[in-house]
Amino acid sequence: MEIRPFAIERFYEQWEFRAELMLSSSDCESLALAELLTLEPDAHERLLDLRLGYTEVAGSLELRSAIADGYERAGPDDVLTLAAAEEGIFLTYHALLAPGEHAIVEAPCYGSAIEVARSTGAEVSLWQRGYADGWAHDLDGLLGLLRAQTKVIYLNSPHNPTGMHMSRETFSRVLELARERSIVVLCDEVYRGLEHDAADRLPNACDVYERAISLNTVSKAYGLPGLRIGWLACRDPQLIDRIRALKLYTTICSSAPSELLVALALRHGEALGERSRRLVLANLPLVEAFIARRGELFDWVRPTAGPIAFPRLRIDGDVQQWCEQTAASAGVLLLPGAVYEQPEHVRIGYGRANLPQALDRLDRFLG
Ligand SMILES: Cc1ncc(COP(=O)(O)O)c(C=O)c1O
Repeated sequence: MEIRPFAIERFYEQWEFRAELMLSSSDCESLALAELLTLEPDAHERLLDLRLGYTEVAGSLELRSAIADGYERAGPDDVLTLAAAEEGIFLTYHALLAPGEHAIVEAPCYGSAIEVARSTGAEVSLWQRGYADGWAHDLDGLLGLLRAQTKVIYLNSPHNPTGMHMSRETFSRVLELARERSIVVLCDEVYRGLEHDAADRLPNACDVYERAISLNTVSKAYGLPGLRIGWLACRDPQLIDRIRALKLYTTICSSAPSELLVALALRHGEALGERSRRLVLANLPLVEAFIARRGELFDWVRPTAGPIAFPRLRIDGDVQQWCEQTAASAGVLLLPGAVYEQPEHVRIGYGRANLPQALDRLDRFLG
């Protein structure tokens, strides 16, 4: 298998734990284990009593039931748990794509959604969105990309990196186009729940289209990326079976303590998601004021969903070098847009509690 380097994660591998203040995270403020264990009276004891054996391949029934409660039509048997969403991207593409076949990927996007698809040997077309058009979705553009060999369409809403959500009309139209051709939609919903206006929340794709796979995780809206648990939900048993068969070659099953803790968290998922959304909504005006104050440097399309903004940085030099210098000198880490093939942009993350400090430090550094 040939696969190109994962530019986002390569950059973070180098910088994330070196810079003092992370100002580009895609997750929300994490929880302490102790906080999680206060959610139910017997949680602490259950964790200590847990036997650390193998777990069920699809995920424990307790976990799959807690996950399925978040869907209208998908039940526990329609869920496959994963070692976080990243495993879902890998398994889905490798289970469903082969040389001679074709996938369409909404871009820019989280890099593995493109590179893992390419690594299957399938042809990959990008459904490209652009800053000049306010990151709009071009449905005619999508129609032009569809082929007889198209097997999978990857969507992501709320979106990394633009921080915008897909409109209900666009979402419905894409699913309709897919249904007419029996194309699988891999819908990356990892930021679902973080719409700034809850009325913008889309249905889970797997609830409205039987060949859609909803991909989710506790890494983002629930603030638990260190537990490394994600899942797929899909009402087509054949699709889930094919993906589960491949999981036997990657992780087999999930970590037992993580399964228990994630089931616990998801039983209180609404409260945890709301905690993250409130933080995002409290931080956004600070980012907005910063962008306005620094209008000579930054412009943007104001984000509408999730914890990420993707402004353009107007400097003469190289934006990636600028990010590296800022990390090294000011200890503030922004993600250069080059990792998304958007070299004029930077990613700002505003889902963490120390956002005011990080912005303040950046402001002082800029002078
Ligand atoms: C859109 C998107 N999908 C998937 C992932 C992977 O998430 P996880 O940490 O749960 O593997 C990320 C992480 O940043 C992401 O932004």
